[in-house]
Amino acid sequence: MEVEKNKKVYVETYGCQMNMADTEVVLSVVDKIGYKVTSDAALADLILVNTCSVRDNAEQRAHQRVSELKEHKRRNPDVLIGVLGCMAERLRTTLVEKNNLVDLVVGPDEYRKLPKLIDDAYAGQRGIAVKLSRVENYDDITPLRTEGISAWLSVMRGCDKFCTFCVVPFTRGRERSRSLKSIMEEVRNLSEQGFKEVSLLGQNVNSYHDGENDFADLLKSVATVDSSMRVRYTTSHPQDMSDKLIETIATHKNICKYVHLPVQSGSDRILKLMNRTYTVDHYLNLLAKIKTAMPEASFSTDIIAGFPTETEQDHQMTLEILKNVRYDGAYMFKYSPRENTRAFDMGDDVPEEMKVERLSEIIDVQNAIALEINQSLIGTEVEVLVERDSSRSSDDLLGRTDTNKKTLFPREDAAVGEYRRVKIERANAQTLFGKLVPGIN
Ligand code: 5AD
Ligand code: SF4
Repeated sequence: MEVEKNKKVYVETYGCQMNMADTEVVLSVVDKIGYKVTSDAALADLILVNTCSVRDNAEQRAHQRVSELKEHKRRNPDVLIGVLGCMAERLRTTLVEKNNLVDLVVGPDEYRKLPKLIDDAYAGQRGIAVKLSRVENYDDITPLRTEGISAWLSVMRGCDKFCTFCVVPFTRGRERSRSLKSIMEEVRNLSEQGFKEVSLLGQNVNSYHDGENDFADLLKSVATVDSSMRVRYTTSHPQDMSDKLIETIATHKNICKYVHLPVQSGSDRILKLMNRTYTVDHYLNLLAKIKTAMPEASFSTDIIAGFPTETEQDHQMTLEILKNVRYDGAYMFKYSPRENTRAFDMGDDVPEEMKVERLSEIIDVQNAIALEINQSLIGTEVEVLVERDSSRSSDDLLGRTDTNKKTLFPREDAAVGEYRRVKIERANAQTLFGKLVPGIN
């Protein structure tokens, strides 16, 4: 394969953090054949859109972006356009047939083939690669991380849970874990390069297992590499949150006390139809156990409104669990039927207006709770890791607490990468605002 000179790649990433991490793998693969990253699509020779299929609106947005980006190809037919990720996997050749200006369609397990597919595309062939793998985990590819002090690190791929609403097991295939050894090597490198935070990623990290080590073993090992480096992880499934794992998180200071534990619904009947494998009782007991082990922990969840057959009573139970748990944050969605999933065959019988109404009630209840929790922090001091400049004002910096609360404050003498104390002066449901307390921690 010839290494191209002065070629540029532009990429847009949609969807979950796994996709962000995958994009860094893709950039590393194409960097090897000479493509440097540009943030200006008009300058790019290769335009990639890494897509998400989890809900229909995510797919619609990606379709729209691809058709907008095709403008660059109309101007310059040498530009290659590629669709990557879950939509590539789900829609395969129909993407090419519908979108005859797409040159590459590459599923999540086929990124190693990009150099060959790019060559083929230059030779006038459509490059399609959408096989799922039982083993691919890109273990030996160091992701090209382009900015920041915080690194994504995918520790496992795929999902075997088959929640009935979810397309992920079909677009990302079977669960497989990277070896602890290769993850540790990467974490050591990140620490040497000055990264201050690492987020261990997987669709279902709690079922990580490399044959010898489980997720608790992995977290413990990663946490001991560099005590000044924060360790985060997502996403957890309530079924696999073991006592050993809770104990590990509780006993390591640099493992963040923030648990994203999606509940999806507050109704046992709906949870069963979703194949979530826990009841509300089991979930609440688990949360109580985590809170006992880590009283300072913060929690977030995912909620789906309007799953097939959801009644007003089921919906009220979801509101109840939100009020009962008092999550610090939540990702809240309207149910979106996905082909091939088991829920697809249950029909989509909750009318759209009702889904919209239920979702907005859920958001209102949750936002009021998050606001109360955040406002209770006014007057207190929190420790933040300074992450970056604020996007709103260059006079402000953005940091994050261990409990994952975004905190904005005037820059003064602080710098990105430092741990600093901030006194909170005001708060909304999403963000804390405050002032630096003098002195570097
Ligand atoms: N419709 C709505 N939300 C969904 N999610 C996954 N599949 C669907 C769907 N078909 C949500 C779940 C999951 C999060 C990543 O996306 O809440 O936890
Ligand atoms: Fe989808 Fe459930 Fe797997 Fe999460 S655990 S990726 S919701 S199937």
